[in-house]
Amino acid sequence: IILGPRTEWLKKHVIEKISETTANVISAEHKRFPDGEKYVRIPIENCSQEKEFLVIHTTDIGRQDEFVWELMLMVNAIVNSGGQKIALYIPYIPYSRQDKQFREGEPVSIEVLLSNLSYQGAKALYTIDIHNPESLVFFKGYSTNILAHEIFLSHNEFPRENVIVISPDKGALHRAKILAEKIGTEYDYLEKHRNRITGEITMKPKQLDVKNKNIVIVDDIISTGGTIVKASQMLLEQGAENVYVAVSHALMAGNAVEKISQSKIKKVFALNTLPPRKNVEYVDVTGKVIETIRESGIIQL
Ligand code: R5P
Repeated sequence: IILGPRTEWLKKHVIEKISETTANVISAEHKRFPDGEKYVRIPIENCSQEKEFLVIHTTDIGRQDEFVWELMLMVNAIVNSGGQKIALYIPYIPYSRQDKQFREGEPVSIEVLLSNLSYQGAKALYTIDIHNPESLVFFKGYSTNILAHEIFLSHNEFPRENVIVISPDKGALHRAKILAEKIGTEYDYLEKHRNRITGEITMKPKQLDVKNKNIVIVDDIISTGGTIVKASQMLLEQGAENVYVAVSHALMAGNAVEKISQSKIKKVFALNTLPPRKNVEYVDVTGKVIETIRESGIIQL
């Protein structure tokens, strides 16, 4: 198992979950040359007999391009060192929201990333809750999108009573459905209305009444926090008792942490797919990932 640069915070979770196996967990070496170019090296002398590799790498705010380049270099380094089967675990895949040409002249960024990972020699890809699962078609090997919403329930502060699960839009309804079914409750999505005279936008659940309910807003990503803060304000105005948030990826761009702490959101829960941020309750998804990798049988863990 090769850990990419700046993933030390993940190491203890990985080691904890694979302790009964014989996999070595080693960190890729990395530095920048004086001119700014990136260098990575897999300390292969520690695993020269191995033919199967699991590369674990994730990104951070502002480091997306660095992450992409490091990942390409790591895969290439393993191929050039005789690695035969390379699987990737990328907890959060950046560029996944640019999954189509929204305007003429734009790239499909996720296609560039995933097709090039295949081209470099990666054979399998495991990820958590990619923005659009259909994007995985760009990876020309085995791929699995892990939806792990039941893991939120392992947190002892996660609400279970009197709950309605809400997605911020119709496209994300499948996430609300999964979580609601785990809790055994109802789910809905927010519908946007624009007042034709004032231009004001309001959001309301399509069907359910949120009065006196504990609402869990489920989404894939918190970026600026704008979506969940606006949704929480609307739901509280409509009589919700408390609003919680459960996201797969807490990116927390710009002043998202401050914006959320100034809002009336009771608690934000996230999976540990990105470096930890303040005021977020994390639940560890590594066990589920290792289980999924083992079940796929692509590499032996
Ligand atoms: C959008 O399609 C995503 O699913 C998220 O709702 C969005 O990225 C959240 O962004 P922000 O936190 O900036 O509102």
